[in-house]
Amino acid sequence: MIEQTNAETNLAAPSGGVELAALLDGWASVGHGTLPRRLAHSLRRAVQAGVLPAGWRLPPERQLAGELAVSRATITDALDELRREGLVTSTQGRGTFVAGGATPSRVGTRVADHLSGGRGIDLATGNPPDLSHLPPIAVDMSMLTAEGGGPGMYAIGLPAMRQAVADLYCRGGFTGSPRVTQAEQIHVTSGAHQAVSLLVATLVGRGGAVALGHFNYPGIFDILDGCEARPVSVRTDRAGMLPESLEQVIVDEHPTALYFQSGAHNPTGRVTPLGRLRAIAEIVDRHGIAVIEDNTLAPLTFSSGLPVGASSLPTMHDLCRTATVASVGSLSKACWAGLRIGWICAPEPLIERTMYHRLALDLGPSAPSQVLAMGLIPHLDDIAAERRRRLEHVVGFAVEHMSSTIPEATVDVPQGGCVLWTEFPVADTGPLVQLARRHGVQIAPGSISVPGRVPGPFVRISVDRPVDLVHEGLDRLGRAWREFSAASPRVTG
Ligand SMILES: Cc1ncc(COP(=O)(O)O)c(C=O)c1O
Repeated sequence: MIEQTNAETNLAAPSGGVELAALLDGWASVGHGTLPRRLAHSLRRAVQAGVLPAGWRLPPERQLAGELAVSRATITDALDELRREGLVTSTQGRGTFVAGGATPSRVGTRVADHLSGGRGIDLATGNPPDLSHLPPIAVDMSMLTAEGGGPGMYAIGLPAMRQAVADLYCRGGFTGSPRVTQAEQIHVTSGAHQAVSLLVATLVGRGGAVALGHFNYPGIFDILDGCEARPVSVRTDRAGMLPESLEQVIVDEHPTALYFQSGAHNPTGRVTPLGRLRAIAEIVDRHGIAVIEDNTLAPLTFSSGLPVGASSLPTMHDLCRTATVASVGSLSKACWAGLRIGWICAPEPLIERTMYHRLALDLGPSAPSQVLAMGLIPHLDDIAAERRRRLEHVVGFAVEHMSSTIPEATVDVPQGGCVLWTEFPVADTGPLVQLARRHGVQIAPGSISVPGRVPGPFVRISVDRPVDLVHEGLDRLGRAWREFSAASPRVTG
């Protein structure tokens, strides 16, 4: 470990307890659990974002307790947690230092960091902020009894709900291309996240590898960590995964499955064009690897993301001839994430295998949520159209506002979804994200979307919010950016 005086480390790092306290502003309302756990969480974020660099000495415990207005025991417990993780080290008589090259071994950190709340305008989480786009649906006890079939507990979904999702696929209501689907091919899950997780556990397992595009849904890395599976990164360009890189990765790393997002991509907002999709499907068929096709954002794909003249989205399911393709859908993005309703659509034997993994976690999806979902599914086309209309409006506004308030940032207009995947002229956006929090706006560093959380020039800004809030949030980000670039002229020059 390199132990430097703080004056020798990164100038952007705080120089003492008072500044550290300012940096951790709002820590007590962020994360979960006891005060020491929350403090450890905020300190961990600052270390992982590189705001507190390796070798930086923390203020003495007694001083820090005073600055943060907590007991000394709170500080000690928080630091104990970080010491156990190897994130900080303490030397008798010298103090506590941020460890060099520490790699925390905890799993599930990305989504936890991302959804942990905190003060200010939330432009980090990407879900509908309210229910105003939904028709009124009421559920009463008689409906529960009618649909619940007695105890209402079915491991892979109420029979009526599985049928409703199968019917949705038959009429082409989710991705737009109809496919003959039986209820037996549907497993109703607690959101798409659980669906992908069950598929990784079933198809890949411990020690296995999953090929995926370099930039990706942060949750997929948590899922792979949790299943002790390995991400193998495929290079991408603006059109998505590069076929030659996928081929190389399959030959070199022998992944068991490809994780692929069809439709608007999280986080880039791009849609893989048909020609590229065909090339990827051909490679997958030839090598016989399974595909976990995540269609979560498919209903939010704008017309600019569809092939010219087409009204439906091409999918790996449509294009693969021999490979096993398991599709994942969800009501979270079109309807409401709080429903926690998603599903797997796959060949029946695979559905049965996912059921056994499911039963190791829980005994099935909530019946009231499924009954509400059954009320919404017949209206899904209209609901999704309304969501796209609102999102295209706010996305258009946000891109234009960004270009006038932060001209140094580069953002492509997304072809769907609600994320502005934005590039700043810096090597690591972690410190900018921290500073933005102090200016009252939460955004996510691009590092949560890449393997190994490697720092980089991107941030993820979700604009699925009312226009006024997005306006104010981007203005706050603009102020943070100006303060940041004035303090570090070298990174912008
Ligand atoms: C690509 C992708 N897959 C899965 C999920 C998880 O969705 P759910 O809320 O249905 O679990 C998300 C949520 O952001 C996502 O963007």
